[in-house]
Amino acid sequence: MRLLVTGGAGFIGANFVHSTVRERPDVSVTVLDALTYAGSRESLAPVADDIRLVEGDLADEQLVERLVAESDAVAHFAAETHVDNALADPAPFLRSNVIGTFSVLEAVRRHGVRLHHVSTDEVYGDLPLGEDVRFTESTPYNPSSPYSATKASADLLVRAWVRSYGVRATISNCSNNYGPYQHIEKFIPRQITNILTGRRPKLYGAGANVRDWIHVEDHNSAVWRILDGGEIGRTYLIGADGERDNLSVLRMILQLMDRDPDDFDHVTDRAGHDLRYAIDSGALRDELGWAPKHTDFADGLGSTIAWYRDNEWWWAPLKERVEAGYAKRGQ
Ligand code: NAD
Ligand code: TYD
Repeated sequence: MRLLVTGGAGFIGANFVHSTVRERPDVSVTVLDALTYAGSRESLAPVADDIRLVEGDLADEQLVERLVAESDAVAHFAAETHVDNALADPAPFLRSNVIGTFSVLEAVRRHGVRLHHVSTDEVYGDLPLGEDVRFTESTPYNPSSPYSATKASADLLVRAWVRSYGVRATISNCSNNYGPYQHIEKFIPRQITNILTGRRPKLYGAGANVRDWIHVEDHNSAVWRILDGGEIGRTYLIGADGERDNLSVLRMILQLMDRDPDDFDHVTDRAGHDLRYAIDSGALRDELGWAPKHTDFADGLGSTIAWYRDNEWWWAPLKERVEAGYAKRGQ
């Protein structure tokens, strides 16, 4: 199989490429990535000799067209992904997430190529705290942030291209990922690298907001399961029953790093901050037989901390700039 992976130099895409090279020698991988601030060649260094990396933008229609024409399937991960950046400047989110997905859809339509579109549970908006409800495939879309609104728009384009043009596409909406190679602007790696550089971790508001954490390897095994056996036109929700509030996650990180669990700062809360995400992944488990492997969160967090400790070369050059950006916003 010739597989085109968009966004393969970002967090989830790079992990996807690593596991694909490791586990599927019959797949030849081409990565298309604009190498924005969030993508890095270094994340693909361990597999550099096994794949082709094309530096380019989704908005470059001719390039996308050419790469899609040479492929049997596309795994579409590329996007602008950070909610705080979207609040500060939404324009790149419109370009990459909406126009970029349109460009991929037009190319797969013209060449009859199979597409898997990677999306987020944030398209469903948020859930109330403390109630026993979760997102399912039939939850109505209700995005809160410019990020989730552009991801929701992209998902709707994919659904329309399936129905109107018979494009062979599937969609997955996954919960919050953690693991190696995640950009240090995001919650878990920001706190780990704050501690490693002698800074205090930063918690938005009271930390009562709940996220449903999944290890990136489990997200990616689900994407492969859908590529292999998913029903065309379907949406699958990916989650590993990992609900925790931010305060508990932060305390766990501090404890695993031998710090006082109260040794952090409360900082300015995010505008429109979604309260709770929670995924019911029953359909994926029942129909496609998928199950997560990383079911012990403390264990997954411990190995993620170890990865950041051992791979300072990967993140240290970014740290000052990321923290200066947060400091400007009082976060
Ligand atoms: P990331 O920000 O770490 O990586 C995104 C990658 O896309 C980067 O390498 C970037 O250079 C590339 N990219 C951005 N715009 C591009 C463009 N116009 N053309 C080509 N490449 C471009 O993101 P991530 O966390 O790896 O997320 C990957 C996908 O998974 C996204 O679609 C995201 O919405 C989805 N997702 C993420 C999470 C999460 O917790 N991180 C959860 C659910 C779904
Ligand atoms: P984030 O990793 O940005 O993911 P998302 O907003 O897409 O869920 O943030 C996860 C949660 O952590 C979210 O509720 C915001 C919160 N957060 C903090 O408390 N402190 C931080 O420094 C960051 C980056 C996020």
